[in-house]
Amino acid sequence: MSQTWWRGAAIYQVYLRSFADGNGDGIGDLAGLRSRLPYLKDLGIDAIWLNPWYPSPMADGGYDVADYRGIEPVFGTLAEAEKFIEEAHELDIKVIIDVVPNHSSTENTWFQEALTDRGARDRFWFRDEPNDWQSIFGGPAWTQVADGQWYLHLFAPEQPDFNWDNPEVHREFEDVLRFWFERGVDGFRIDSAALLFKSETSYEDLDEVHAVYRRWREIADEYGERVLIGEVWLPDQERFTRYLRPDELHTAFNFDFLSCPWEPAELRRVIDLTLTTHAPVGAPPTWVLSNHDVTRPVTRYGRSDTTFAHGGRLHGVPSDPELGHRRARAAALLAMALPGSVYVYQGEELGLPEVEDLPDDQRQDPMYHRSGGTNRGRDGCRVPLPWAGDEPPFGFGGTPTWLPQPESWRKVTAEAQAADLGSMLNLYRTGLAHRHDLLGDGTLTWLTMGPDVLAFTRESGLTCVSNLGAAPVRLPAGRILLASGPLEDGALPSDTTVWLTSLE
Ligand code: NOJ
Repeated sequence: MSQTWWRGAAIYQVYLRSFADGNGDGIGDLAGLRSRLPYLKDLGIDAIWLNPWYPSPMADGGYDVADYRGIEPVFGTLAEAEKFIEEAHELDIKVIIDVVPNHSSTENTWFQEALTDRGARDRFWFRDEPNDWQSIFGGPAWTQVADGQWYLHLFAPEQPDFNWDNPEVHREFEDVLRFWFERGVDGFRIDSAALLFKSETSYEDLDEVHAVYRRWREIADEYGERVLIGEVWLPDQERFTRYLRPDELHTAFNFDFLSCPWEPAELRRVIDLTLTTHAPVGAPPTWVLSNHDVTRPVTRYGRSDTTFAHGGRLHGVPSDPELGHRRARAAALLAMALPGSVYVYQGEELGLPEVEDLPDDQRQDPMYHRSGGTNRGRDGCRVPLPWAGDEPPFGFGGTPTWLPQPESWRKVTAEAQAADLGSMLNLYRTGLAHRHDLLGDGTLTWLTMGPDVLAFTRESGLTCVSNLGAAPVRLPAGRILLASGPLEDGALPSDTTVWLTSLE
């Protein structure tokens, strides 16, 4: 792969706890992941992004990091992590890991020191009086310690925020980056990348953050072919693009696309906006339909309201599974055809729905608990994957799994879908294989086919047509390479995407 492999890569997101369990304790781990590397190779992805694998009390699924240079024992050991990186590389798969610079865990040594020694508190935000900030998970953003002071946590109380005005924090994270680059990781996904600095009045997108990423970019460049990917949720596109200047991050997640309803005018607007904001800085866009924080696309697209927003997850709002599935297939081919890199969240390639009927006493997400249950949280998209067989744990590993799997998942196991040519899994496999040869980095040229149709061609000559209207539409000339669903008398039906190549 070239120096700029990340510009057009297909990146598969592994939520380790729920991917595959190698030691039979019902929780996914590195042994399970290593055993499934051939599956990922067959799927046709270029890179894996792993959610945090560090030692953690798991108050927020590992986003509460106790030690940035280790591996959570439930997942395995550092030696296994190194072995995994080596094995992935042998298969020509890059490895991207999460880094969490905004906050740590209350179990982190620095925070433990701060609790007992007032003189060691400057690495965090300790104050005599809290302000009125609310935590992103609900409830106050400040928690009081035994001696009366308060510390800031933008997320759960178990996740104290670092003080980035302290140079020691900078040095620590620079060292953490080097630690993992030296062990072969190909990049970092930066959690909550815009929140690091705080002023008296704001914690979002302060200008000081850019100097941090410029420094991180210098470090990444020293190692060559490494990538920095920002988790940047900012409504202001101009502010968002600042993170992607040539000497800062390489790419950032496209949350506008992920939150966009399944409506042609809105999708066209978001795609155009994405392309025009990325062009001036020369950064490739990213196309994301789902991740470990959002409602599974099959469920979302089956509803009458197909938007996504963290506050209004529409949990329990009726969803038509057949419609959701059809649209999710069409959306997958659309996302794969757009210029830039594409993300696939584990289970998306199996068309898994959001699991909405988890027993409340088994929900683990702090978003659920901190909101007093008014927000059902993110457990429903984190249920362990079904690999094979007719009953739970469906080849995942040990039982019970840390979140229960629906009985109905016997129909959607990777094994069942591999044997079905029309399955979601085979659509992803074929789509990603063609994408590898014909799509990825570059530009698009729109074709005019009416207000309900998104149609464009790419440099390779591939044309992608998505029909979001009710009536079937006539296709332009071309040979059909792949379609998300059957055509009707040669016309493209509603909620279907097709890829065409030139006729010769
Ligand atoms: C974003 C992560 O994707 C999410 O899962 C986590 O809860 C928050 N950052 C806090 O780390």
